[in-house]
Amino acid sequence: MDNFLKFLKIRRSIRAFGKQSISKKQLEKIVDAARFAPTARNLQPWEFVVVTDTHKLSQLAQLGENGKFMEQAAACIAVFSADTKYFLEDGSAATCNILLASTALGIGSCWVAGDKKPYAQQVNTLLNAPPSMKLISMVALGYPLEKNVFKAIAKRELKELLHWEKF
Ligand SMILES: Cc1cc2nc3c(=O)[nH]c(=O)nc-3n(C[C@H](O)[C@H](O)[C@H](O)COP(=O)(O)O)c2cc1C
Repeated sequence: MDNFLKFLKIRRSIRAFGKQSISKKQLEKIVDAARFAPTARNLQPWEFVVVTDTHKLSQLAQLGENGKFMEQAAACIAVFSADTKYFLEDGSAATCNILLASTALGIGSCWVAGDKKPYAQQVNTLLNAPPSMKLISMVALGYPLEKNVFKAIAKRELKELLHWEKF
């Protein structure tokens, strides 16, 4: 348990990756962790597309301004959901599991926005997902370029945001 709380706190967005690839087994472990996230009415409306092909990663990187580093990533997991009432919450919960599982495996990750982005349908086309599927996120993955990157970063202080009994 203590270990788990440690991983929660050292997770941070990593956007600079080394050249090392991620084994299929590790990628499977990460998606396996994603499927244990909670979902409204336990619908589990998600699908996960793992991309390791360098040409496709580069195509994904070019789609928007905020995910250029995807080009250097060893892999990307695109999280899709069926268009259910709580698709965004469900898909986001799965995305968080992906980020945390990656951290636990020593793999750097960064959430790249999917939902609401003008390029979302282009991602569906590129990855052969049916147009009805909602793109939640694209998680860039790779072994961090720098050493010792997993460390807690500054966040809003607990005392500033924790309210007991009333706001
Ligand atoms: C919904 C969502 C969308 C995000 N989209 C992007 C993105 O497109 N590009 C990016 O570099 N980071 C993106 N991020 C990562 C945030 O910038 C990052 O989580 C935030 O700056 C806090 O840093 P930390 O993850 O290291 O704690 C996104 C995060 C969330 C939750």
